[in-house]
Amino acid sequence: MSRPIPTTPWWRDAVVYQVYPRSFRDHDGDGVGDLRGIVEGLGALAELGVDAIWLNPFYPSPQVDAGYDVSDHREVDPLFGDLATFDELVAASHALGLRVVVDLVPNHTSDQHPWFRRALAAAPGSPERQRYLFRPGRGALGDRPPNDWQSVFGGPAWTRVRGHDPTAGEWYLHLFAPQQPDLDWTNAEVRAEYEDVLRFWLDRGVDGFRIDVAHGLAKDPGMPDLSGRFATSGLAHSGHPHWDRDEVHEVFRSWRRVLDGYPGDRMFVAEAYLADAMRLARYVRSDELHTAFNFRFLMATWDVAELRAAVDETLTSHAAVGAPATWVLSNHDVVRTVTRYGGGVAGHRRARAAALLMFALPGSAYVYQGEELGLPEVVDLPDSARQDPTYRRTGGALPGRDGCRVPIPWDAERPACGFSPTGASWLPQPKDWSLLSRDRQQRDGSSMLHLYRRAIALRRSLGTAAPGAAPFEWLDLGPDVLAFSRGSFVSLTNLGPTPVRLPGPGEVVLSSDPAASDRTTSERTVATDVTVWFEPTA
Ligand code: NOJ
Repeated sequence: MSRPIPTTPWWRDAVVYQVYPRSFRDHDGDGVGDLRGIVEGLGALAELGVDAIWLNPFYPSPQVDAGYDVSDHREVDPLFGDLATFDELVAASHALGLRVVVDLVPNHTSDQHPWFRRALAAAPGSPERQRYLFRPGRGALGDRPPNDWQSVFGGPAWTRVRGHDPTAGEWYLHLFAPQQPDLDWTNAEVRAEYEDVLRFWLDRGVDGFRIDVAHGLAKDPGMPDLSGRFATSGLAHSGHPHWDRDEVHEVFRSWRRVLDGYPGDRMFVAEAYLADAMRLARYVRSDELHTAFNFRFLMATWDVAELRAAVDETLTSHAAVGAPATWVLSNHDVVRTVTRYGGGVAGHRRARAAALLMFALPGSAYVYQGEELGLPEVVDLPDSARQDPTYRRTGGALPGRDGCRVPIPWDAERPACGFSPTGASWLPQPKDWSLLSRDRQQRDGSSMLHLYRRAIALRRSLGTAAPGAAPFEWLDLGPDVLAFSRGSFVSLTNLGPTPVRLPGPGEVVLSSDPAASDRTTSERTVATDVTVWFEPTA
């Protein structure tokens, strides 16, 4: 199935499918997904109707943080393939009308990156050390960390250099694992290097970059203690000494200049966990990044007021800078939607309703692999299988993110549900994974997969995706209902305990109710935890 690549800026209203390479599809049978496996799976994604794929990091890495500890930004880790296969992946994607977005990890490198190895071997104050954030410790012996900053994964954000450094025993900053030292973004070499990395992948034909920890690049030079005033995790608040500092924007302006030097509509999407929507909008000003993930929407619970506030704040703040919103329900860092919304039948039902709500909103939408299959979080992984550093760094207090990263099921009858030809799987799949496999759902007209496919196709044909195309307006249908019109089309979600009536005559073009989604329905009511798309008769 081949579609021409449209010429308008695709990223304003695209549906982007997040491929988590380790868990998408394993071609070589070692139990870890790979680039060749992704090439094999592209047909299924084109069939789903998405416009683009975003690939999590596949670069050489010791894999301490599943590839977010990059040791070479211009290569492919042999675990996943090689550059030739990457080039094939880009060509095959483009042939199917799919854009390709890759991950850029600028806040930190791996401790095995040549730069960090050289920094350890060099003296305090040397140019090699100045690419990172080395500082002397506190106390007469320098044996206390420079400040009280914490790692997002638990424990202190500083590690003292030992063995290599008989003179000073400096400490280095790592907002994530100790194997992920933070770079110093005031350093000219760091700035130049990443611009070059952008060019490397742009030259290979990528259509965009997802910017990891975009809000973390700049640190308060005074490195003041948090002193309990600021949290490390969650949505960051203004004034934080290492999140969302104004200096990050100059970096993005320089990247934008690099990107704009290339033909075609290339784009950036920022990962920035911010509490204030207006602060987030600063990342998507016209000379900075194009889009930013909407975590405010992802974090809203299944509640009318919360969801409505998230939508309002997002649309208002983005309109102020002329940028399109994004809508995200899940990714590789958060508990899967079905489980977050309550699990079981109710969670599944709500996840279906949330998907239609998301696809009806103006802007672009992200689908995390397996979301279209309604996969739940795997909550019973054996502790010995867990790999996320969060689990060990919090002494097991937090389970970590492995439960949303379990390899996805393709084919009920095959080993590892078709994930891997040998049946190997880097995280064990639950026993009943086959019930959710893609092949089964393809044969079931009421499946989550069919709902996603229909919603994505309809969204395009109804022309509601583009922010300007169909003006957004809330409809007041009572306290339990989220309803809005997009031009000639209405999306209505009932979060209340009793059915609600449709607002007038018209046709239901899609319903998330599994009992009704296989056909247009003549039902005049919308049941609990159901979204319908409705075209009122004029
Ligand atoms: C955000 C990524 O999504 C996450 O998986 C990673 O652990 C951190 N950034 C650190 O790179």
